[in-house]
Amino acid sequence: MADSVFKDGLLKGKTAFVSGGSSGINLGIATAFVKAGAKVAINGRNVEKLEGAVKGLQAHGTAMGVAADVRDYASVEKALQQVKDAYGEIDVLVCGAAGNFPAPVLGMSSNGFKAVMDIDVLGTFNVSRAAFEHLRKPGAAVINISAPQAYLPMAMQAHVCAAKAGVDMLTRVLAIEWGGTGVRVNAITPGPIEGTEGMSRLAPSEGARQKLAEALPLQRFGKPDDIARLALFLASDAASYITGAIMVCDGGQSLLGGAAVLQAING
Ligand code: COA
Repeated sequence: MADSVFKDGLLKGKTAFVSGGSSGINLGIATAFVKAGAKVAINGRNVEKLEGAVKGLQAHGTAMGVAADVRDYASVEKALQQVKDAYGEIDVLVCGAAGNFPAPVLGMSSNGFKAVMDIDVLGTFNVSRAAFEHLRKPGAAVINISAPQAYLPMAMQAHVCAAKAGVDMLTRVLAIEWGGTGVRVNAITPGPIEGTEGMSRLAPSEGARQKLAEALPLQRFGKPDDIARLALFLASDAASYITGAIMVCDGGQSLLGGAAVLQAING
């Protein structure tokens, strides 16, 4: 099923930019977009990782990498200009760059809290703000990558909870402000997705991951493709009347509550 969705040219002729696109969920989205016929630019700050990911994408279609730290507005502006020059106006913008490490508030410095706020909230602001002039209007779709921490308070995750709640609110405000230009702005809230850096940071042992998977209503971790299919939908004209939506794709994790999730991980 996944392959038929990815290969039917759903995004043929479109350009996509994916921040944080070198790995995990964002690379899964970038891969689905390339397979669906889009020209895809991914962004990351580690050049080696970025180049490796671009090579993988090019096996399926047209892709390029642009190095930038989303916390640095000038470097984001430069990266977006490179994409515009190479591929033209941007039809789909995915703000996916994020940071996370598990730590209690008293085990986290002011700078540690700020690092995650800056990558997630300021980074999403920077990429959206700088991309606006390059977005196709009307018609462009912005997709922000959120997390269940936006509405599930979780110990050890104060920075991510605050940051992703901010990302959700940015999504809603941008949907209001940009709706009149024909730009839709939505967010995806992925649950636990296998093989991602975020998941290996939150649940470092195989045992913890298994316990969490068993606690989920769908009793399995998601795959990057599960999120990519939702991103494809939101990017496409099939979602033309959807804006300001925060769409949860989490195997039912949000039904459990943050404490139950942490209990499943920590035993
Ligand atoms: N516990 C407590 N504090 C931590 C920490 C941990 N496990 N890991 C990092 N920090 C603190 C650092 O000590 C530093 O604070 P200090 O200057 O007061 O010592 C601060 O966070 C910034 O760390 P640094 O490594 O300099 O920042 P960075 O910008 O290179 O990295 C992070 C940002 C910390 C978010 C890093 O985890 C990262 O790069 N993450 C990106 C990948 C990722 O998290 N993916 C999963 C997304 S869900």
